[in-house]
Amino acid sequence: MRTQVAIIGAGPAGLMLGHLLHLSNIDSIIIENRAKDYVIERVRAGVLEQGTVDLMIASGVGDRLKRDGLRHDGVWLAFNGERHRIDFLGLTGKSVVVYGQNEVVKDFIAAREASERPLHFEVSDVRVRDVESARPKVCLQKDDDEHEIVCDFIAGCDGFHGICRPAFPSGFLQCYEKDYPFAWLGILATAPPSSEELVYALHERGFALYSMRSARVTRLYLRCAPDEKISEWPDDRIWEELQTRLGTKDGWRINRGTITQKAVTPMRGFVADPMRFGNLFLAGDAAHIVPPTGAKGLNLAAADVRFLTHALVAYYKTGSSDELNNYSAKCLKRVWKAQRFSWWMTSMLHRFGTANDFDYRRQIAELDYLTGSRAAMTSLAENYVGLPIE
Ligand code: APR
Ligand code: PHB
Repeated sequence: MRTQVAIIGAGPAGLMLGHLLHLSNIDSIIIENRAKDYVIERVRAGVLEQGTVDLMIASGVGDRLKRDGLRHDGVWLAFNGERHRIDFLGLTGKSVVVYGQNEVVKDFIAAREASERPLHFEVSDVRVRDVESARPKVCLQKDDDEHEIVCDFIAGCDGFHGICRPAFPSGFLQCYEKDYPFAWLGILATAPPSSEELVYALHERGFALYSMRSARVTRLYLRCAPDEKISEWPDDRIWEELQTRLGTKDGWRINRGTITQKAVTPMRGFVADPMRFGNLFLAGDAAHIVPPTGAKGLNLAAADVRFLTHALVAYYKTGSSDELNNYSAKCLKRVWKAQRFSWWMTSMLHRFGTANDFDYRRQIAELDYLTGSRAAMTSLAENYVGLPIE
C-alpha cells in the first residue's frame, strides 16, 4: 500500500488529522488496533474548548455538536459549603461546549467513512520502519496477513501506550513526568443534571467534580487512591460520598440515577520532547498526558493536529520543510502551558497524601482569593476556554 501520510491510531488525534488532510487533498491511511465499537464506546472526558469547537464546525463535522453539545458559559468552584461562579463568557467572551469525546470520535469516523478514504480497525503487530528515510514504512497484520504501508510521513497518534514513541532511538527523547498520588473514580449515570454547569469542589474529604453529557446523563468524579478497588464502591456509597463532597449549605442535592459505568482514571503529567524523529511525528496522548482537571487532553490533541496539518499542507504545496521543522517546538510551547494549568487546577483542588491542615487552609485561601479577584478569575477563564492556537 502507498499513501502520503500513514496515521497510527483512530482516537481523536488520528481521526481529526485524517479528516483535515482529506480536506486538503492529502492522502492518508488510518490504522487502529481496536475494534470500531470499542473506539466509539470508550468513555473519556467531554469538554471542548472554543478552538476545538470551531475546528469541528469549520471542517464540516459540527452538525451533531451544534445540535447536542451543551454550551457552558462558566463553571462553579465549591468550597466551605458554598459555590462561586467563574463567568467565562463575561471574562473572556468565550465559552466551552460539553460534548462527549466518544461523540467526537463518532462524528469523525462518520466523516472518514463518507470520504471513502481508508480506515482499518483491528490491525495488529504494528511496527514502524525507516523513519529517517524519505520512504518510511508501517508494517502490520490484518486478518492474519502481513501488510506494508509505504508513505512520506508517519503520524503517531497511538496514545500514551502506543508503539510510536517507543520507536524513537534511546536517548533521543527527553521525557518529563509528574506523578500525582491519587486518581479519580468516575461514573456515568442516567440522571438529569441538577446543576446547569460543572462544579469543581474541594472538600475536607477530597476533590469531587460534577459534570454531565446531556439533559439525561450525569458524569461525576471523586478523588480516590490510584489503586482504589471499584468493588469497594457500591452505588450507594458513591452517591453518599458525592453528596457529602459536592453538597452546599443551601441544601443543593445531586439527582441520583442508575450508574451505567464506573472506572478509575489515573492522574499523570507527561511530556515527550521533541515530538518528532525523522519523518515520524507524534500527536496527542502519544506525546503528552495531562491530569484531567481542566479537561485539556482532547483539546491539546486537536491543537497538535492543526499544527501538523498546517505543516504538511505547506510541505506539499511549496516543498518547504520549515513548518515541519517547527512542529514540535510550536506544539510544546502550548502543551507546557496546558500542563501548567492542569497542574495548578489539580494542586488547588486536591488534598495530597502528605498534606496537612496548613495545606488545606492555604488551598481554601487560594480559592477564596481566586473567586474574589477578577484578575485571578480571568486567568482561570482564559486558560479553561483555551489559549490561542497561533
Ligand atoms: N496500532 C494502532 N493503533 C493503536 C496502537 C497501535 N500499536 N496503539 C494504540 N492505538 C490506538 C488506541 O487503540 C487508540 O484508539 O491509538 C488510539 C489513541 O487514541 P487516544 O488514546 O484517544 O489518544 P489521542 O487520539 O491522542 O486523543 C487524546 O484522548 O486519552 C484521551 O484524554 C485524552 O482526550 C484525550 C484524547
Ligand atoms: C468530564 O465531563 O468528563 C470532565 C469534565 C471536566 C474535567 C474533566 C472531565 O475537568
